[in-house]
Amino acid sequence: MNALYTILPYLDNGIIKLKKERGTIMKVCNFGSLNFDKVYAMEHFVEPKETISSIGYMENFGGKGLNQSIALAKAGEEVYHAGKVGKDGQPFIDYLEKYGVHTDYLKKDDNTVTGHAIIQTCKGENCIILFGGANQEIDEKLADEVLSHFEKGDVLLLQNEISSMAYIMKKAHETGMKIVFNTAPMDAKVFTYPLELVDLFIVNEVEGRGLAKVDSKRYEDIIAGLQKAYPDTEIVLTCGGDGSYYIHGKEVVHQEAFMVDAVDTTAAGDTFTGYFLACQMMEMSVQDSLKVASKASSVTVQGHGAAQSIPEWKEVAGALIP
Ligand code: RIB
Repeated sequence: MNALYTILPYLDNGIIKLKKERGTIMKVCNFGSLNFDKVYAMEHFVEPKETISSIGYMENFGGKGLNQSIALAKAGEEVYHAGKVGKDGQPFIDYLEKYGVHTDYLKKDDNTVTGHAIIQTCKGENCIILFGGANQEIDEKLADEVLSHFEKGDVLLLQNEISSMAYIMKKAHETGMKIVFNTAPMDAKVFTYPLELVDLFIVNEVEGRGLAKVDSKRYEDIIAGLQKAYPDTEIVLTCGGDGSYYIHGKEVVHQEAFMVDAVDTTAAGDTFTGYFLACQMMEMSVQDSLKVASKASSVTVQGHGAAQSIPEWKEVAGALIP
């Protein structure tokens, strides 16, 4: 059947209604970062020894964690954002609540400041410098406290922008939670985590190469490397204009990208992660979940900023209906 026709019932009903009908009560805990994004529009990215003026400036709510919670919430999912902001962090709590994200497990720590990101954007691309701030003050005590509110079958979503990652993974696994790990930003620390506990990786092509430890840039090689390294783990690999792949053992599903003119790719991956997970939680097929997530991120890249450019479910659904 044409994939669109399998998506249509979800588009008509909305995720929450469908979940109620099916009695699905899994909760998503997104233990993740929150950043003030300081975004500089550039004619070219600054180079060593160079001082240049930006041609535009914006401040936005961001952080891979926050963006993914917003994407999940806009897709209609019930999401609990866990993490830490600093003494300046009340606006983040208000912003998440405005979109229906639960903030019960988001702590405000007056001894530190909220994380921030310095983002240069140029011709649809970006480069990012992070300052962790409160995101790097997450300790085992906070992890224990947060995870005590979740149970077997609930989902833990993680990115690589907070401290105590290995501990959080181990505790969640002990509880029987399903662990979804978006390995961004990919660095050597990732390999110090108990990756064998991860149920679903969501990676872009650079992260996929890193995770598979392959040098080749060919998708076939990256996929083969991921299959070899993680034969039992579900993996979603996003490849920009070349679409996305779902890999599980020998099973590989490909979804073509929706081609658009990108003005700012910030939060495209976060949108994909949030939407893919939301679609999977309402038991949509893998192919349709990739399709909806691709469409959602194609909308995100047509707007400026991070969380603010993530579309609502209705907009994504509207764009998928011919
Ligand atoms: O994925 C985009 C995000 O990465 C930005 O919002 C920035 O804060 C960094 O975490």
